[in-house]
Amino acid sequence: MDLLEIKAVNTDVQRWLATAATNLRQHLHTHFQVQTKSGRNDLVTNFDKETEHYLVDQIRHSFPNDQIVSEEGFGDAVQNMQGRVWFVDPIDGTLNFVKQRNDFAMMIGLYEDGRNVLGYILDVMPNKLLWGGPSIGLHLNEEAITAPENASLAAGLFGVNGPMFALNRERVRDIVFASSGARILGSAGLEFQHVVLGRQVGYISRLMPWDFAAGKILAETAGLSVTTIDGDPINMLKSQVVLVTTHRALPEVQKIRQS
Ligand code: IPD
Ligand code: CA
Ligand code: CA
Ligand code: CA
Repeated sequence: MDLLEIKAVNTDVQRWLATAATNLRQHLHTHFQVQTKSGRNDLVTNFDKETEHYLVDQIRHSFPNDQIVSEEGFGDAVQNMQGRVWFVDPIDGTLNFVKQRNDFAMMIGLYEDGRNVLGYILDVMPNKLLWGGPSIGLHLNEEAITAPENASLAAGLFGVNGPMFALNRERVRDIVFASSGARILGSAGLEFQHVVLGRQVGYISRLMPWDFAAGKILAETAGLSVTTIDGDPINMLKSQVVLVTTHRALPEVQKIRQS
């Protein structure tokens, strides 16, 4: 896609997200249905499904030949990254959404032939949209933002997944003790926002493609490192342990893991 096309797509995506988020905020205090998926803490609500249905419909209507990877079943069974591939997480942090009505995000990522194009993480309640990509830079709502400082591990907070921290999986507890402290937000999207905005030096979690696709584009546009825990490139179609950090903190994290 050339810059003009990317800008046109960006206008569409921002309009869809605004519509979906307004709808969600308006209905937040009405009764909603909650179902469990794989276990009692793996929830889905009618709002996850309705929001995904709406966003996937918009993409299909505007870009009928594109492939869509999404969490709640309205997307495609995508087997490769050829052409344009969209990633949709309608509510990231469903448990927060159900328990707190706060701290959840909507996320969309767009790739073309495996390359980063556009990423969106919308912190729905305060209406803070982090968006951008390699050809249009990074923005928080209307404001252009710059890359975060290349901070050391010791200088910043580190976002983690709760069970990984509790069980010291991948030596996550040791990594956190070498940082300024742990943060557990319950939304991969909001964790990525904090790292891109320089409020955390890193984040680590086992994630699905819709959890990391938008964040990877935004983080790499911000000059951050996004790899698997082993330092390998991310596979866009697999669950894996994803590590986003500053380039300075990356070898420090790897050293702890190998020690
Ligand atoms: C979850 C959140 C959470 C992460 C889980 C994800 P969901 O996404 O991002 O922070 O630890 O692995 O599944 O299910 O609420 O969209
Ligand atoms: Ca989920
Ligand atoms: Ca998610
Ligand atoms: Ca979700």
